[in-house]
Amino acid sequence: MREILVTSALPYANGYIHLGHLVEYIQTDIWARAMKAQGHKVTYVCADDAHGTAIMLKAEANGITPEEQIASVKASHEADFAKFLIEFDNYHSTHSPENKHYSELIYRRLNNAGHISTRDVEQLFDPEKQLFLADRFVKGECPECGSADQYGDNCEVCGTTYDATELKNPRSTLSDAAPVLKVSKHYFFDLPEFEQFLKDWTRSDNRLQPSVANKLQEWFDAGLASWDISRDAPYFGFKIPDTPEGEPDKYFYVWLDAPVGYMASFQNLCDKLAGTDNALDFDHYWAQENEHKTEVYHFIGKDIVYFHALFWPAMLAGSEFRTPTGVFAHGFLMVNGEKMSKSRGTFIKAETYAEHLHPEYLRYYFASKLSDKVEDINLDLEDFMQKVNSDLVGKVVNIASRSAGFIVKKYDGMLTEICAEPKLLEDITKTGDEIAAAYENREFARAMRLIMQCADKANEYIDEKKPWTLAKLEGTEQEVQEVCSVAINIFRQLMVYLAPVLPELTANAKAFLNIDDLSFHSRNEWLLGHQINKFKPLMQRIEQKDIEAMVEASKASLGDAQEATQSEEATTTSEADDSAEQTDYIGIEDFAKVEMKVAHVLACDYVEGADKLLQFTLDVGEDKPRNVFSGIRKFYEPEQLMNKKVICVTNLAPRKMKFGLSEGMVLSTGHSKTQLTVVTLPDSCVVGDLLG
Ligand code: 2FM
Ligand code: ZN
Repeated sequence: MREILVTSALPYANGYIHLGHLVEYIQTDIWARAMKAQGHKVTYVCADDAHGTAIMLKAEANGITPEEQIASVKASHEADFAKFLIEFDNYHSTHSPENKHYSELIYRRLNNAGHISTRDVEQLFDPEKQLFLADRFVKGECPECGSADQYGDNCEVCGTTYDATELKNPRSTLSDAAPVLKVSKHYFFDLPEFEQFLKDWTRSDNRLQPSVANKLQEWFDAGLASWDISRDAPYFGFKIPDTPEGEPDKYFYVWLDAPVGYMASFQNLCDKLAGTDNALDFDHYWAQENEHKTEVYHFIGKDIVYFHALFWPAMLAGSEFRTPTGVFAHGFLMVNGEKMSKSRGTFIKAETYAEHLHPEYLRYYFASKLSDKVEDINLDLEDFMQKVNSDLVGKVVNIASRSAGFIVKKYDGMLTEICAEPKLLEDITKTGDEIAAAYENREFARAMRLIMQCADKANEYIDEKKPWTLAKLEGTEQEVQEVCSVAINIFRQLMVYLAPVLPELTANAKAFLNIDDLSFHSRNEWLLGHQINKFKPLMQRIEQKDIEAMVEASKASLGDAQEATQSEEATTTSEADDSAEQTDYIGIEDFAKVEMKVAHVLACDYVEGADKLLQFTLDVGEDKPRNVFSGIRKFYEPEQLMNKKVICVTNLAPRKMKFGLSEGMVLSTGHSKTQLTVVTLPDSCVVGDLLG
């Protein structure tokens, strides 16, 4: 029996759980359940990520203490997770004595081993709020292109990344005051010292997905920098211990103690279970010498790989704890092919979803999309309805509902003593090995496909035998019982296979089948001469109107949805980043102001000294071509856009840039950081024509 500790990333204690988060919790929960069902000892822990400036400010805005803030959010998170049948063995908080203990212990060990240093850092400081401003709390003009209203880390218009101190005319987003530069002492963790260790770690034992390992290689190539792990007061977090007397208090940066929260939650569970039959030993899972005895896996979103695959293993190795056996990253959630959007009603809270639709629908749909790759997954609401209705209701549940009635009514619930179709049942029992492997390898989509193929075989068999016709004939009594018994047995196998994904449905099926075990192994003992109970419908079809009602309710919850601010770090377990999605409606009169014209790309070139920009010469049907700069260099070679017909916004105020005047904007789609695609038009479009 393998002993496995598994975690999902810890959600911030300043917002609600939405469908983007659920991709990860559902993925981890399915994996943990599947591994348990295969007989391993699996412990699944999580916690709220309770520290940081964002949470402190949120509490202040709500007029409560940070402790009250995190307590109420934790309760709402736990309620949401329970609705979605996420079965944690423990759910804790990073604002806990256990976390304080391990954060201090790790820090002290790192410090004693010489991995911590200090240096002065000059940072923007809000003189009104009296606090240092993280990048997300400063806005100003981009130092590169001059665009107004840009955050302190990068420009959304031209894509340049910079230091907050480089912004022109910066303002604090908290008070609107002009920030001042202030120096303070910061503590650093010496990440570069761990470079060789991390290189070996990354490439060994299949710890990381290949695409993640490649990403890390890029980071190694770019060079690792030491990591600033301290923050100045006021901050909601743990004080850094052993700082020199007489100096101002320093706090651990939230990302230092967040992953330690995995250990803390586990320790909390060990304490709860002490003295019981299920007792767990902390060191057995975390001591360095036990690295090969037990397994530790972290499921995370692709946006927090840096923290989990660089900082975290280095911190653990440097403080003589074991490192994770594997870190598994998943992609972001799209809804209807686009980033979740409040105005379209596709920014869906877990709670809102659960008011309208059964959580198991979503669990199944996500399972049918998830693989071991770091790919984004798309929740297409139309496809969601079709797939759940056709696979679960139409194929799987249908097998039982078509055959159970005959068995219960005509044969007092008794299944035949002998299986009439052993080859078929053997086949489906054997497919269980492949399904189990697919679950273990996080190839859930493949597991769902295999399961549906088994369901198809059962339905073909029933269609061919037609028990409903047989039942009307004379002398076919036994055959009807045989056919329906085969069908019920296949249904039972399917329940074993689907149990990690559909725990509630399969628990109800267990009662109907009158069995007490749905472990993977149990499928080898077929139900022969066994009595089943009356069948009750196990799942309703999804109705279009329920989806519509959920979308409408999500639009309506737009107001309070906007309250869910992002953390100062602007990283979430999903691309569904509130701060990035703030649709304000405009009237038709505003829209009509924008002049968009068909433009012909006469020339497209690199710009000397600007690594983000391409320079366009555009014919927009005027006497003279226009010069336009666009921040898309990392996505295109200039020749790819030569001679294309594109869309140019022609009445945008000309912008003076370091490299010349930009007289318009070329439209593209996508996310400015990851991918931008220039919108091109068919050649038949006439240059200078208006769009709208
Ligand atoms: O990105 C986030 O939402 C973080 N709260 C995840 C923390 S995971 C772990 F390190 F605690
Ligand atoms: Zn810019």
